[in-house]
Amino acid sequence: MSDFVQHAQHGDVHVLRLANPPVNTLRTEIRAGLHAGLAAAKAGGAKAVVLIGTGRMFCAGAEMTEFGKPRQPPSLTEVFDAIEGFPGIVVAAIHGSALGGGLELALACHARVAAPGAQVGLPEVKRGFVPGAGGTQRLPRLIGPEEAAKIIISGDPIPAEKAVKLGVVDAVIEGDLEAGAVAWAKAAIGKTFTLARNRTDKISGQDPAAFEAVVAGLLKRTRGQESPKGCAEAVRASFTLPFEEGLAKERDLFATLVAGEQSKALRHIFFGEREVLRIPGMPAEAKSLPVERLVVIGGGTMGGGIAMSAANNGVPVTIVETSEEALQKGLARCHANWERTVASGRLSQADYEKRKALLTGSTDFEGTVEKADLVIEAVFENMAVKKEVFARLDKAARPGVVLASNTSTLSIDEIASATSRPELVVGMHFFSPANVMRLLENVRGSKSSWATIATATEFGKRIGKLPVLVGNCDGFVGNRMTGKRGPQVEKLLLEGCLPADIDKVMEGYGMAMGPLATGDLAGLDIGAAVRKARGTVAPVADAVVALGRFGQKTGKGWYMYDEKRNRLPDPEVEKIILDVAEKMQVRRRKISDEEILDRMLLPMVNEGARILEEGIAYRPIDIDVIFINGFGWPAFRGGPMFWADTQGLKTVRDKLARYAEATNDANLKPTALIEKLAAEGGTFAGMGR
Ligand code: NAI
Repeated sequence: MSDFVQHAQHGDVHVLRLANPPVNTLRTEIRAGLHAGLAAAKAGGAKAVVLIGTGRMFCAGAEMTEFGKPRQPPSLTEVFDAIEGFPGIVVAAIHGSALGGGLELALACHARVAAPGAQVGLPEVKRGFVPGAGGTQRLPRLIGPEEAAKIIISGDPIPAEKAVKLGVVDAVIEGDLEAGAVAWAKAAIGKTFTLARNRTDKISGQDPAAFEAVVAGLLKRTRGQESPKGCAEAVRASFTLPFEEGLAKERDLFATLVAGEQSKALRHIFFGEREVLRIPGMPAEAKSLPVERLVVIGGGTMGGGIAMSAANNGVPVTIVETSEEALQKGLARCHANWERTVASGRLSQADYEKRKALLTGSTDFEGTVEKADLVIEAVFENMAVKKEVFARLDKAARPGVVLASNTSTLSIDEIASATSRPELVVGMHFFSPANVMRLLENVRGSKSSWATIATATEFGKRIGKLPVLVGNCDGFVGNRMTGKRGPQVEKLLLEGCLPADIDKVMEGYGMAMGPLATGDLAGLDIGAAVRKARGTVAPVADAVVALGRFGQKTGKGWYMYDEKRNRLPDPEVEKIILDVAEKMQVRRRKISDEEILDRMLLPMVNEGARILEEGIAYRPIDIDVIFINGFGWPAFRGGPMFWADTQGLKTVRDKLARYAEATNDANLKPTALIEKLAAEGGTFAGMGR
C-alpha cells in the first residue's frame, strides 16, 4: 500500500487515511493510494469505507505544483469512478477544511460527515480557474444551482454547520472524528444513498431567470476577472446539460482558464504570499522575542488601526497619547469602528466586548512603556519628533524590547540612532486603514538584528498581516514606486487627458481606484507638502491645491463630490488643466488607453527594477505581493513586475527609453537591470533561478 494512504479496518468498515500532511494535497501518490485502497477494501468485502485526513485538515485540494506537467495516472476522475462504483458506501469524514479537489473528492462520496468547526469550499475561482473534478456539476445537484453558484463564484468556504443546513454535509460529529465516522458508516450500511451525480431533485425545477439574477449579483463584484464568469457557465450547465456533458463543459472551461494569463497571475501571487515569508539569509536559529503586551505610541489614524489589529487577534494593547483628550478621542474612534461592525452583523457583541477589554489607553508614557514587550510608534511624521520619542522609549522600555516605527518615509537608521539599542529598532509600516489592510512592510535598518526582524515578522503574522521585509530608503517599496507615477500623471493631464480618462483606464485594468481618485481620498495637500519639502513642482496639481481643493475632505479635489460621495468631473479642474497647458505651450492631443496604461505602469516597473538593484526588495515577487496587498492592485493581474514579464522586457525597455525621451523624464531611462534582462531575453520571474 502507498505510504501516502493508510488503511485500517473496523469489521465491515474500512478506513483510508490521507497521509500527506499538513494539508493532504491530491498528489499522484495520494490518488494512487486511494485507488488501490478502494480496490483492496472491495476485495476485502468492506461494506463501507471512511475517507479521512491526517494533519491539519481533510484535504486542501489539487497539488498545484503538478499543473502544467505531464499527468500521472490515476486521474481524480478514475478515483471518483472507483468511489461511485463501490459496492457499498463511501463516507468522507472532514476535519479542518475540505477545499477544491478535497471537497470534490467528498462530493463524489455517498455521504459526508464533518467535525464541528470544519469548513468546506471551492476556492478555484481565486486561482483563476473553475473546479475541475466535477464540483460544478455535483454541488448543484446536492444543494441547487443558486446556492452552488454562491459558493463556487465567491470561492469562500462555509462552516460545517451551514453545510449541513444546505445539504452539502450529512451530519456534524462531535468527539473523535474517525471513531464517530466509523460508527456513523456502520449504522448507514444497508441504507440507500443516491450519489450526487444521480440526483435530479434540486436541478429539475430550476428557473433559469432566477439563476441569472443570482449570478448577475455575484459577478458585479468581480470586474475584469474571467474565472467567475467561467464558474457561472459551468454551474449553468448543471441544469441545462446531462451530467456527463456538464462534466465535459467543466473540463473545457478548466483547461482554457488554467492556461490563461489571469490564472498564472493568481497562482504567482498565491505562491508568492508564501515565499515572501521565507526571508533570504535569515538564520534558522533567529527566534522571535515573546510578545504578551503591545504598546502603541500615538492614537491617531494609524495608531488606532494598529491597536485594533492587535486586539482583534487577542493581543492586549495599550495606546499612549500626549493628552487625556487625544487619548479618549483615539479610543472612541476604535470603539465606534467596532460598533459599526457589530451593527453590520459581522461581529458579535461578545467578541466586541472581548476586543474592547484588550484595548486600554494611558497618558503615562514611561509607566506604560516599561510594561511593553513590543512598542510600535505611530506619532506625527516628523524626524525631530520621532527621535525625541525614540530616545524616551529607549530609556523607558526594558532592555531587549523591540522598538518599531510606523514611519512611511523616514530613515529607520536615523530614528535608531536616537537610541542605545539600534539592533532592536525596526520599521513596521502598516497601511491605512491599518485594521483592514493586510500588507505590512517591515523595514530593516542597517543594524536591525535577525531576532528583531523575526519579532516584527512573527508579530505581524499573529495580528493577521502579511509581512514583507524591505530595506531602508525613502518611501520603502510601495510608496517609492507609486511616487514615480506622479510626474507622468501631470504630463498626461497637460498633454491631453482629464482626470477621469486616467482613472477609467486604471480601473478598467482592475485597480480598486484610479490614481487621481486615490489622491482625492488621501488628501491632495499631503502630496503638495511633500513636493514643497523636496523643492519639486507639479504645475497642474499645485494649481488645484492652490484653490483649496484638497480632495474629499474639502468636498472637491480632482473631482467634485455629491452628498453621497459620488465623484463627478468638474469643469473648474478642466479649465485649470487647459490654462496651465496653454501657459506652458503644450499642444493637447488624444491619448490612447494603451499609452495611458503604459505611462502609469512603466515608471513603477522601472523603479521596481532599481529597488531590486539596490537590494531594497529581495525578489520581484516581494514587490508584486506588496502591490496586491497594500495598493488595491488586482490579484488577477499579478502585480507590476509580473505585468512587465507579460509584456516582454525588451518591449518594456524600448517603451521606457521612448517615453524617457518623449517626456523628458530621467526616471524613465531603463535601469541597468532591465537593460541586462532585455538583452538576455530574461524575465523578472526568472531572476535567481
Ligand atoms: P495622526 O496625526 O492621525 O496621529 C498621530 C498621533 O500621535 C496624534 O494623535 C498625536 O496626538 C500622537 N502623538 C504625537 N506625539 C506623541 C507622543 N510624543 N507621544 C504619544 N503620542 C503622540 O497621524 P497618522 O496618520 O496616524 O500617522 C502616524 C504615523 O504613521 C506617521 O509616521 C505616518 O507617516 C505613518 N503612516 C501614516 C499612514 C496614513 O495613511 N495616514 C500610512 C502609513 C504610515
